[in-house]
Amino acid sequence: MNALLLNALRCKNTGRAPVWLMRQAGRYMPDYRALRQKHSFLEMCHEPELIAKVTLLPIHSFGMDAAILFSDILMIPEALQVGLHFEDKLGPLIDRPLSTVADVQALPKIDVGQSLKFVAEGIKCVKEQLTVPLLGFCGAPFTVASYMIEGKSSRDLRKTKKWMLTDPAGFHQLLSLLTELSIDYLKLQIQAGVAAVQVFDSWANVLSPEQFREFSLPYLKRIVDAIRPLDVPVILFGRGFSSHLPEVVALSPDAISIDWCADLKRLRQSVPTSIALQGNLDPDILHAPQAKLQSEVNRLLDAMHGDQGYVFNLGHGIHPETPFENVRTLVETVQRRG
Ligand code: CP3
Repeated sequence: MNALLLNALRCKNTGRAPVWLMRQAGRYMPDYRALRQKHSFLEMCHEPELIAKVTLLPIHSFGMDAAILFSDILMIPEALQVGLHFEDKLGPLIDRPLSTVADVQALPKIDVGQSLKFVAEGIKCVKEQLTVPLLGFCGAPFTVASYMIEGKSSRDLRKTKKWMLTDPAGFHQLLSLLTELSIDYLKLQIQAGVAAVQVFDSWANVLSPEQFREFSLPYLKRIVDAIRPLDVPVILFGRGFSSHLPEVVALSPDAISIDWCADLKRLRQSVPTSIALQGNLDPDILHAPQAKLQSEVNRLLDAMHGDQGYVFNLGHGIHPETPFENVRTLVETVQRRG
């Protein structure tokens, strides 16, 4: 078993930096697009054998040092029966978005172990075929809530923020519910065999520092505290986390994953060496000519050289238009370093 990722997450990696990429299994891969001709995205998320097959695609093509479970942060809203579907070019759509606390109270009471059993089966299926660690994940309560409220992709999350500001108590009820379900969901994934988990707070960047402290941080804390006794590393990813760094550090997650807008080496000075750092290449650099891509990857590796708690990744997910061969160049450039 490749130990680089787990060693780095424990800040005890004396070898080269491990590399995996957010959204490493996705539409930039011809094999993924071929499968999508035959199956809808949700079908692929529901069928354990397809979960395993898609999770393995990037590992077979490029040999990353970790696999990430093929699934979506919106599996919890789907289990809550809000009518999730995906449309090409539009992304996730929700037929019955939430707009009041009464909508929150009317959600069905679900048992994650039953509703999301197919995810555990997918994990068991893929684990048999892996020689690298498998990462599980969930969305951060704030980010998941925002999709349930907006009902479609939104850049500013205006409906979410209006609700947050007009009925904070109701909004907290939704966040609390999502937190409990997310903890159960991560526990289910851990029981099925994932080696580490990542929590995606993709929309934390729309929150002011005060709003982040009120509407995201306490729920991230509940998740980190609930998983800590299980001894499985927790990575917290958030766009905008560099603005909230002292607060995120205070949660003592095993690792913090940073978007591409921060200088990772400089930021290391404010993160104790007992917390790993992951990131943070701009995903657009995968569109650069090969020589530029290699020099940017090397620049980041040089900056983080000797850091025993460093995990190479992008600052956000791979775009669908990314040239396939450039992903190979990226992974090879990291793995060629001694
Ligand atoms: O390879 C991996 O990273 C693992 C699988 C994974 C997916 N989504 C697959 C996916 C993971 C970890 C996610 C997380 C996720 N999903 C996030 C957090 C990370 C981030 O990107 O900020 C969010 C916000 C979602 C919600 C979501 N799912 C959106 C907004 C979209 C549409 C955007 C898009 O890229 O189309 C999805 C769909 C989705 N999730 C796809 C994949 C491979 C594309 C679906 C398709 O094949 O059409």
